[in-house]
Formats: sequence, C-alpha cells, structure tokens
Amino acid sequence: MTAPAPVIGIDLLRRYDRPGPRYTSYPTAVQFHDGFDEPSYRAHLAAASLSREPLSLYLHLPFCEQRCSFCGCMVIITRKREVAATYLRYLLREIAMLREALGSRRRIVQYHWGGGTPTYLAPAQMATLHEAVIAAFDLDPDAEAGVEVDPRVTTAEQLDLLRGMGFNRLSLGVQDFAPDVQQAVNRVQSVASTRALFDHARALGFQSINIDLIYGLPRQTPSSFAATVDTVVAMRPDRIALYSYAHVPWIRGNQKAIPPADLPSPELKLELFVDAMHRFLDAGYVQIGMDHFALPTDTLAQAAATGLLHRNFMGYTTRPAPDLIGAGVSAIGEVAGAFAQNVKKLSTYYAAIDAGRFPIERGYVLDADDRLRRDVIAGLMCRFRVDRADIERRHGIDFETYFREEIAELDGMPAADGLVTRDADGITVTPAGRLLVRNLAMIFDRHLRERRQSDPVFSRTI
Ligand SMILES: C[S@@+](CC[C@H](N)C(=O)[O-])C[C@H]1O[C@@H](n2cnc3c(N)ncnc32)[C@H](O)[C@@H]1O
Ligand code: SF4
Repeated sequence: MTAPAPVIGIDLLRRYDRPGPRYTSYPTAVQFHDGFDEPSYRAHLAAASLSREPLSLYLHLPFCEQRCSFCGCMVIITRKREVAATYLRYLLREIAMLREALGSRRRIVQYHWGGGTPTYLAPAQMATLHEAVIAAFDLDPDAEAGVEVDPRVTTAEQLDLLRGMGFNRLSLGVQDFAPDVQQAVNRVQSVASTRALFDHARALGFQSINIDLIYGLPRQTPSSFAATVDTVVAMRPDRIALYSYAHVPWIRGNQKAIPPADLPSPELKLELFVDAMHRFLDAGYVQIGMDHFALPTDTLAQAAATGLLHRNFMGYTTRPAPDLIGAGVSAIGEVAGAFAQNVKKLSTYYAAIDAGRFPIERGYVLDADDRLRRDVIAGLMCRFRVDRADIERRHGIDFETYFREEIAELDGMPAADGLVTRDADGITVTPAGRLLVRNLAMIFDRHLRERRQSDPVFSRTI
C-alpha cells in the first residue's frame, strides 16, 4: 500500500493555500452557460443512448428540516411534507423521461442519492423512488449504491429499508462534535445518537461507511477538533471526508449568519487540518488527495494503490462510467461529452416537466482542448501520474509543445517544495504533491488561467 506519510510541512501548505476548484469535473461548473439548453441535452442523451457502456445515476433530494449555517449545498428547507411528496412525483416523471431518451441503455453501475438529506423522505417515499429507478433501469447487482444520511433525522427503520433495497454505501454527516461549534453552526448532533446509527449500519452490513467532517468552522479549537477526530477514529468508519470549510457568503447567503470573527484564522485552520491528518494516518488510514482518508481494506484505498481511482461530481470513486445521469433540481450530469445541470427552483423544475421538457438550466460541451486537459487533470488527481506517450497518442499532440507554459510553471516551482518529478516519460506527483494536487491541476486549467484576474469564485484549497 502506498500510503502517503505526513510528508508535508505547514509552511508549504500555507504557501499553496489559494482559491481553487475541487476538480470534481473539468471544466468546472463555473464554465457552464445557458447556451447549452434542453434541445442540446436531448441531442446528447440521444448520442448516449447508442453506447453500450454502463451508466452512473445521481438523484438529488434537496430537502432538510433546518439549515446548518455553514451549508454550501443546494438545499430546500421545509417542514411541509407535502412539498417533498410533490417533488417526488415530478422526479419520477423525470426518471421516466430519461429512461425513454436513453432507449436500451439502462445498466447502472453507480447509483447515488445526494442532497440535501435523502432520509428526509418517509420510508414509503424512499421505497417508491427506488422502485421507479429499478423499473426504469437495470441496477447492476454489483453496483456501488450510496446514500447521504443526516444522523439527526435518520431512523434505524430507514437504514433497514435502504440496506434491503441494495444500498451498500452510506455517508454520514457529522462535521464536528464540539457543542460550542455545533451551536455556532445551528447543527446539534450528539455522539451517542450518531454512534447508535453507525453501529446499526455496521450490523446491517453496509460495505463502506463514510463520515464527513469539516475543519475551519467557527469556534473550532485544536483541542476540541482533536477530540472530534479521535471520537470518529474510534468508530472506525471505512472512509472519512475531511472538508475544508468553504466560506462563500456571496454565493450562500445562509453563511452570513457566521460572524467572520468566529472563524479560525488561516494559520489555525491549517493547524486543525494538519493535526487531523496526522491522527488519521496514525490510526492506519490512507490519504487520498488532500481531503479523503480510507482504511486500507476499503475499495477506495485499493483503487488509489492500483491506479484505478476515478473522479466525478460525487468525488473520488472506484467505478468508471463514462456517462453520469443527474436527476432532480440542480443535479449535474455528464452525457456524451457534455455537462448538463438542471434548474434550481422547484417551480421552474415542475413547469419544464409539465411541458414535457427536460429541466435543463445550463451546461457545457467539451472541446478537444477540454478533453485533453481533463485527461491530464484526471491523471494528476486519480493516478498521480501523467503519462506523456499515452496523452500524445490519445490526443494527437506533442506534449512538450502543447503544454510549454504549464511545464515552465511546474519547473518554476521551488525544487525544495518537491511536489512533482518530471522526466521524459511524464509527470509524477510525489506524496507531498498528492496533498496539493488541486494546485497542480490548476496549472493545467486553461479556463482558470483566463479568469485568474477576476472574481473570487472559489474557496481556498486548504
Ligand atoms: C449534502 S451534505 C450531507 C448530508 C446531510 N445533509 C448531512 O448534513 O448530514 C454533504 C456534505 O457537504 C459538506 N459541506 C456542506 N457545506 C459545506 C461547506 N460550506 N464547506 C465544506 N463542506 C461542506 C458537509 O460535510 C456535508 O456532510
Ligand atoms: S449540511 Fe446537510 S443537513 Fe445541513 S443544511 Fe446542508 S444538506 Fe442540510
């Protein structure tokens, strides 16, 4: 196992901490535009229907009972259950439209319910949704089937049902167990109830259980966050996502509730990250990229070790599926060489479906340069290696000529930073570079290069 040791100093992390995307796609969603419309999406679905490759399916379930003030996700806060019932009816109609457009291409190898909080739905609603999916598509018996779960609202009965329906992956939101932090972010969640749900999920045999944590939240201190990390390590989840708090109040108005004075300083935020990273590595976890940790027995760690990692809008995954179908408000898909995102407002979503149109708001068709750079960025982020001959063969370019500027930038990085090594065969990301791989990807991002002088669209990388 090639576990990256804690090989990076805090000074190096500090120097590379700058706004940047997470590269769950290339180009990133900021490039999407409304010139990609419903007829474009239909044309791409028609092209996709001709392929025999398996599919990924992502369903967005946006509802939550109350809003966590840090939340950066696309959520709808309501306690009116009838709102979710109406939504579900429309979602089923969208799934039926997708099935029709995709013709005989039906095999799903990756299936995910994200949110929001999918377990906001009542058990009967969850069953209805899943039945509609398996009626429309062929869910592979080996599919990775995952669901995001908020332990505060999820019952043992819901977990029983999910497991019975074939879900084998669970992601639990925790963020931080410190009462003071929980008060500050409007999310009160006890260790005992989280642990009880976790133990129940284990007993049910979910293959991979993930816990989400966030560092950089208001009122976090080194000792309080260390206690959270140790509590999580003691539960022994298969995976941990350790997210950097993305504070973007100009995009997510709810974050204005967090007084800037309560946020940790950039130095403290880094210290929180580095200490948590050491604790996970000491506990035997393997680090994948900067913000994911997995037990060596988990498929994600195994895929990282064997060069079989992939990345899509859901983050790192072990399943290659060239097309990702997104359904539900704000869902993003990738279909036959184009990204497509649904509208975010419920009323617009309903109106489109009532009119028999896919509820597409914007998207992006990749050109040859995008496809080339996407391959390079996928090499850096997933295999930690860019193979020059492979890229040249697949894209018909001369690597050194095409990427003259990028290579100059890589070579201009202080040698002592030691993030990459270069030779005639390509670029290799070092263990230290794996932690800063987003910064390396940024060098190859043509759109970012062009936007560099403009608005602060992204949160910081660390
Ligand atoms: C859709 S939510 C998780 C599911 C569920 N709603 C919950 O909160 O438990 C996905 C994850 O995104 C992360 N997240 C949300 N807002 C974030 C932000 N502003 N910065 C970093 N991570 C964030 C949290 O870790 C959260 O668990
Ligand atoms: S973090 Fe989860 S529960 Fe909180 S508002 Fe966001 S999606 Fe909802």
